[in-house]
Amino acid sequence: MATNRILYINATSSNASRTNDLAKTLLSGLSGDIKEVRLRDLGLKSLDEERIQKRMKNIAARDYTDYQEAVDFANADTIVIAAPHYDLSFPSLLKVYIENIYVLGVVTSFAPDGHVIGLCKAKKLFYVATSGGPLETRFGYEYIKALALDYFGIMDCELLAAENLDINPSLAPSILEKAKEDIRTRFKKS
Ligand SMILES: Cc1cc2nc3c(=O)[nH]c(=O)nc-3n(C[C@H](O)[C@H](O)[C@H](O)COP(=O)(O)O)c2cc1C
Repeated sequence: MATNRILYINATSSNASRTNDLAKTLLSGLSGDIKEVRLRDLGLKSLDEERIQKRMKNIAARDYTDYQEAVDFANADTIVIAAPHYDLSFPSLLKVYIENIYVLGVVTSFAPDGHVIGLCKAKKLFYVATSGGPLETRFGYEYIKALALDYFGIMDCELLAAENLDINPSLAPSILEKAKEDIRTRFKKS
């Protein structure tokens, strides 16, 4: 049987990230080969005029050699995103990553009539988040889910979260542990 290629997109910032902790709990329960991309180590740059022009030329020539991150995203069987809740959304680095992997011909294409064809192989995308207060899903998880369903062709998305971690710090360890235990119960290596 083919190996499950798991792409772990780590969009966390702190060394003792609780979101990374939760995501790693999930990853321990998934069977397959894990490739982690730690966004803070990638030196990602947001798109500017020069990069947009270069990308348009590369796309026209179907030359994707400079877009390995996009190819890895498109070829993954399972995607796990770890994104702490920042300012009602996710860390800006994740948006920069999305800009970088959103390469026409790799993750998405358009039919002649304009309708979108998702090219990603993943059957499942997990979005793992933690938040200081109640988790507002509209601008973080829901945005990623809309991209996945409408543009990438990834039809199954799931949110796994631990929220209210900063309201009463003494309760945070037990909230996190409960979320981890729920994940351990549901996801066990086959
Ligand atoms: C820059 C920044 C912005 C944040 N914005 C929010 C927010 O809008 N709502 C919220 O509930 N918590 C917010 N928090 C709290 C974090 O979501 C919370 O502490 C989370 O568990 C941090 O994840 P980590 O341990 O993986 O770094 C914010 C924290 C930081 C550092």
